[in-house]
Amino acid sequence: MSSVPVTFSLSRRGLLGSAAALAAVASCQPRAAQPPLVETSAPPLDPRDWTSVRAQFALDQRLAHLAAFVFAAPPAQVREAIARHRAGFDANTVEYLHANEGMMERSIHQWAAGYLGVRTDEIMFTDSTTMGLGLLYHGLKLSPGDEILTSEHDFFATHESLRFRAERDGVRVNRVRLYQDPFNTSVDEIVSNLARAFTPATKVVALTWVHSGTGVKLPVREIASFLNGRALLCLDSVHGFGAQDAGPAELGCDFLISGCHKWLFGPRGTGLIWGTPAAWARYQPSIPTFQPERRPQSTPGGYHAFEHQWALAETFDFHKRIGRDRIAARVHELNGRLKDGLAGIKGVRLITPRSPDLSAGIVCCVVGDSEPPELVVRLRDKGVVASASPYNPSYLRFGASIATLEADVDKAIDTVRGL
Ligand SMILES: Cc1ncc(COP(=O)(O)O)c(C=O)c1O
Repeated sequence: MSSVPVTFSLSRRGLLGSAAALAAVASCQPRAAQPPLVETSAPPLDPRDWTSVRAQFALDQRLAHLAAFVFAAPPAQVREAIARHRAGFDANTVEYLHANEGMMERSIHQWAAGYLGVRTDEIMFTDSTTMGLGLLYHGLKLSPGDEILTSEHDFFATHESLRFRAERDGVRVNRVRLYQDPFNTSVDEIVSNLARAFTPATKVVALTWVHSGTGVKLPVREIASFLNGRALLCLDSVHGFGAQDAGPAELGCDFLISGCHKWLFGPRGTGLIWGTPAAWARYQPSIPTFQPERRPQSTPGGYHAFEHQWALAETFDFHKRIGRDRIAARVHELNGRLKDGLAGIKGVRLITPRSPDLSAGIVCCVVGDSEPPELVVRLRDKGVVASASPYNPSYLRFGASIATLEADVDKAIDTVRGL
């Protein structure tokens, strides 16, 4: 596996303020604390072999993990990095921090920027999608009379962040229904519904790339073309990030908000916000930073679970070794197989569109008149881990990923057939 180099660096430059203070602290700092070696149990990764990719996960192999996207199980390379940093912190906390933080902050910015195809100074790190959405919608500079447009299909965290904002300063938040029937929706229906709800006062459009309630993937590029810079397009990207072969250049959004602990299979408790320089100029931070040179797109200050945040380097490395394009193709292939199988079962109705242009890795369906939570329990009894979407209506929800093989998908199909 590739490891991230560890070098000496000063810490908390911004807080220390003066050159004299810096020199005084530098003279007390240790040279690089060497990270201990940590063993992992996984076989070496062959990135061309999906069985080998699957073997990188410590997930219980007796189960078919069709809900791994809800919360990440990191692959061996990432687990090893977390364990290595944790051991370093546990052995000599402050020296390990001071010896590594400057280098590691640069490293994770470079890896994330490389993955997204953006500049390093356009990214800030968060703990989750929810934290990113809360910070962003709290901090966007708006004037009296400005409106925010969101959709009925967005996640609770977007709706709540916008409600807090509206209660705080009276900003008007409008919600639009982008499609009536998810399975049969189209790019035209989605864009024209958005266009009808857009007004000259709309300054922010707050949407989600892949809807976790229906599996619909928005035609973000077409929406961006319609907006044509008239409003900031902010995208909760958590169910596309790590599963689709697109970054800001392909999407055309102004802000991309995501956790790294779903489809990216990064360390739990990690996330990021990317924005264009013009978009960041319209953001007012609310948590003080220890990186004042990066304002306003600076990672919130305070000590973090650094063993997790820093292991993002290995997370992006893992994706790079396999290939963002190959992972996206695999996610489409496995979920296409799943949809074909489910669609052939009497009494099962697909909710998620069949087309890869309007879907990613989430597959929602209805099975007879059974309630999704009850179905989840019955599937689990047969060794299939699925999820019930936390929306009204709730659907039975699957997501085949790089932590799944064809046999897992087929097991899910067979088990649904037997219900
Ligand atoms: C669309 C969407 N956004 C955000 C979240 C929350 O993500 P996080 O746990 O990273 O805050 C979820 C589900 O957990 C989701 O489905």
